[in-house]
Amino acid sequence: MTALARANRTSKDWLPWYDRTGRVSLLRLAVFVLASGPALWMTYKWFGGLLSPKPITDILRESGDWSIRLLLVTLAVSPVRALTRWNGILAVRRMLGLFALFYGLLHLSFYFFDQHFVLWRIALEIVLRTYLTIGFSALLIMAVMGATSTDAMVRRLGAEKWRRIHWWVYVAVFGGLLHFFMQVRIKAYEPSLLTGLCILLGGYRLLQRRSRDVPYWQLVALALAGFAGAALMEAAYYAISMNAPMLVVLQANLDFSYEIRPAYWSLAAGVLLIVTKAAGQLRNRFTGRSRSA
Ligand code: HEM
Repeated sequence: MTALARANRTSKDWLPWYDRTGRVSLLRLAVFVLASGPALWMTYKWFGGLLSPKPITDILRESGDWSIRLLLVTLAVSPVRALTRWNGILAVRRMLGLFALFYGLLHLSFYFFDQHFVLWRIALEIVLRTYLTIGFSALLIMAVMGATSTDAMVRRLGAEKWRRIHWWVYVAVFGGLLHFFMQVRIKAYEPSLLTGLCILLGGYRLLQRRSRDVPYWQLVALALAGFAGAALMEAAYYAISMNAPMLVVLQANLDFSYEIRPAYWSLAAGVLLIVTKAAGQLRNRFTGRSRSA
């Protein structure tokens, strides 16, 4: 191999839109562009003066939102693959996880910015404020997973140990959600929705450990668990932070007339899981028939 070819291979190894064979992957390119979007949008708003009078807080919040959202998208990759048998989607799981970490680190950097980089005060705040301690622990776990996500680390650790380490992603998501809930001031809409989705995705992985092909009745139970989890979390938040009667909030959660509540979105995601399984089975039956034809 010439030096030029070696140099080319190295750059292709690093550029995220190349696949393992050295060809441009449209899927990887699309995911890279989409996941970079929020960072580009934040940069545009920052330099265009489009943020509120507290721009640092705006970016701090927005980057935190994208970190937890992308963490959940990363968790969705395995269930989507299992339900659709689309193995190609695995090619973007690591990239999505690294983007979640990137937004988490951006979030932390803007916290430093917000605290004028006074390190002793930042450290004290992280130790003394429970929601910051939890956020810090979640970010630490994400950083360990990011550092162990390379092919070389997978080889070094061995598949089994690597898989055990990467189960910690659920602890990171749980920590991120708790951190999110603990600093919400008025509206718990998004953390409640993300809780429902987290129950769906985490529950699916657990069920999959017992049987690779999760039966329909278990998927229905999971969709209902996600629905109940989102509704209960929202009600618990208002009960704890505002002393609102839980039953009244739960009733409001079931009311469609004002807006679609997070529990319903979570239920819709559960139904989507079921539909995806059905569509995957149909497709497999169809391709099986055409192969045998
Ligand atoms: C050392 C680690 C972290 C620190 C110091 C930190 C700090 C903060 C602070 C100060 C806020 C409140 C912002 C405000 O409303 O004034 C916040 C909100 C938030 N953080 Fe973190 N955080 C950390 C880690 C994380 C991680 C790992 C995630 C996600 C996985 C995360 C997600 C969020 C979210 C979603 C919000 C709410 C944003 C909103 O109000 O829309 N944080 N964080």
